[in-house]
Amino acid sequence: MYNLLVINGPNLNRLGKREPEIYGHLTLEQINEDLSALAKTLDVHIDFFQSNIEGEIINAIHTADDAYDGVIINPAAYTHYSYAIADAIKSITLPFAEVHLSNIYVREEFRSHSVTAASCIGAITGFGAFSYSAGLYALVDHLKKKV
Ligand code: DQA
Repeated sequence: MYNLLVINGPNLNRLGKREPEIYGHLTLEQINEDLSALAKTLDVHIDFFQSNIEGEIINAIHTADDAYDGVIINPAAYTHYSYAIADAIKSITLPFAEVHLSNIYVREEFRSHSVTAASCIGAITGFGAFSYSAGLYALVDHLKKKV
């Protein structure tokens, strides 16, 4: 049984209402429920954390170190400029999977670079809510291979 933390960054609490043509119609709560159901079938327990505040995300990363086996993170807009979150990910030993609902490479130029992905095992972008499922599969596969 693995314990994973899912961290969602700014404005993702607005999913469902926020630009549905880009991010879909599911709320973050619905995405989390679906992910929890999938996690159960993989014998994984998931906790969820969402914040619109950079420092809170950094604190959540630090405290995850002793409490979880890995982290799925959607840093949202911080993806593109938060060296502080990139450093926080590197400051702990857990494996991270970065996920994005939209395909960051086909949107505005500023979104086509992630400063946080290099601190993660890998990144999954553009599959809507399934990006979180893919992140979960990828992290579990990584953890199994590590043992
Ligand atoms: C996002 C992509 C980011 O560019 C954007 O700022 C978000 C969401 C995604 O999941 O597609 O807030 O991370």
